[in-house]
Amino acid sequence: MKISQKLMDARMYEEKMGAGIKDEMRPAFHLSSRVGWMNDPNGFSFYKGWYHLFYQYNPYNTIWGPMHWGHARSKDLLHWEYLPAALAPDEDYDQNGCFSGSAIELPDGRQMLLYTGVKQEVDENGISDDIQRQCVAFGDGVDYEKYEGNPVIVPENLPDGFNPHEFRDPKIWKAEDGSYRCVTCCANMQRDARIMMFQSKDGITWGEGKLLVQNNERFGKVWECPEFFELDGKQVLMTSPMDMLPEGFEYHNGNGTLCLIGDYDEEEGVFVPQHDQSIDYGIDFYATQTVLTTDGRRVMIGWMQNWDTTPGYRLPPNGWFGQMTIPRELSIRDGRLYQTPIREMEHLRKNKVMFRNVYVNGEMELDGVKGRCVELLMEIRPADPEKIYTHFEVRFAQGGRYYTSLDYQPEEQIMKIDRKFSGSRRAIIHQRRAFVPSKDGRVQIRLILDRFSAEAFIDDGRQVITANLYTEQAADGITFHSKGAVTMELVKYDLA
Ligand code: FRU
Repeated sequence: MKISQKLMDARMYEEKMGAGIKDEMRPAFHLSSRVGWMNDPNGFSFYKGWYHLFYQYNPYNTIWGPMHWGHARSKDLLHWEYLPAALAPDEDYDQNGCFSGSAIELPDGRQMLLYTGVKQEVDENGISDDIQRQCVAFGDGVDYEKYEGNPVIVPENLPDGFNPHEFRDPKIWKAEDGSYRCVTCCANMQRDARIMMFQSKDGITWGEGKLLVQNNERFGKVWECPEFFELDGKQVLMTSPMDMLPEGFEYHNGNGTLCLIGDYDEEEGVFVPQHDQSIDYGIDFYATQTVLTTDGRRVMIGWMQNWDTTPGYRLPPNGWFGQMTIPRELSIRDGRLYQTPIREMEHLRKNKVMFRNVYVNGEMELDGVKGRCVELLMEIRPADPEKIYTHFEVRFAQGGRYYTSLDYQPEEQIMKIDRKFSGSRRAIIHQRRAFVPSKDGRVQIRLILDRFSAEAFIDDGRQVITANLYTEQAADGITFHSKGAVTMELVKYDLA
């Protein structure tokens, strides 16, 4: 297989520099970039006995740059093994980046990557801008060769009035008859988002795009990283909108995430959304991708970061920047999206500590409850059903001047994540609030900490709040606080 010099250079560089990053400088069970910068998950797929996860990757720096595809594989979606970078921007049509895309196994046993090739071109007004076209590469799970006929889907496949600068992130799947479908993000010239659907017999020759969803300025401007799949008898469209306006506590300003749940008439190609919601209610979450596991679970992973907060960090020189969330099992209950950590997580549990009926009124520490790679299962209820507490808070990554907290105020039904005291030295977003409905002040929080992050699954995954924190690892305290009396059931595990 032909490997370009550019890809060979990237592979040599990542092998050498990646080896210099000690395990304890990385998250323990979240995938982080082998070296340099990571953004979106790409090509999340199962191929020849392994789950493969590729990612947007600039090996040479911890900031965004010329986009390669990094590559890792795993048997259980938690223990990842790095593979050599899969794609480099080494062709004329992708010289400014191999942007996000997806992967599928072909009938002949090869794996095909479908990605966005980006090239800056000067238009008739002398203005230089990205032209985005969809390209393919074929491989064996390690090495990939770009198709000589690239690109395979170009702006000419779009109806008139579409924007060739906002045409990216193809997500491919196989239809029941063995032919292929893909959805891509698109926009009109005013940058109002569209989702387009394409069909192909072989994955190489694609027809005219058909409009699937039109934003009409409802959710931000341009959308990125679409996903379209069936779940529990409904059809789900996930995407990550840019330039959002806030709406209550459901959507926040800037880059966010959107899940539309509805019905899909496959024959007519018509999707009718009935419900919309954010995918995650925390600070650091963007760009999702899903895979169907071999036992039929729809599992989602997201970039545990957000464009609005990335430039603000001043990080210790760890050599990597960017990590993925925990893979999350998806389901639909009561018309909403639910997410729970993949069940394989249970194999990471060690040293169980359990406390029953803990009375919290004021401040409290519990024996054996600390650590930065831990899982905490908390069930909170008012100690006196007649008198609901006003405030419950768990602080973690605590030590010296530092802590991050999650707190719940049952009267307002607001859950807040706050990392203001996490050691951040920048004026980025540190807090976010979410509307978390509760009955009589009861709430359940499953909190997963892994060195540089916190993911809180509320009420069995009805909502998730994700944030990362770069607090020094010595800050491993966990404390509980309340205003008013709370009874708590608590289980804690170390995760290793
Ligand atoms: C989303 C995104 C994608 C694009 C990629 C570039 O985070 O902007 O739309 O393909 O990142 O790295």
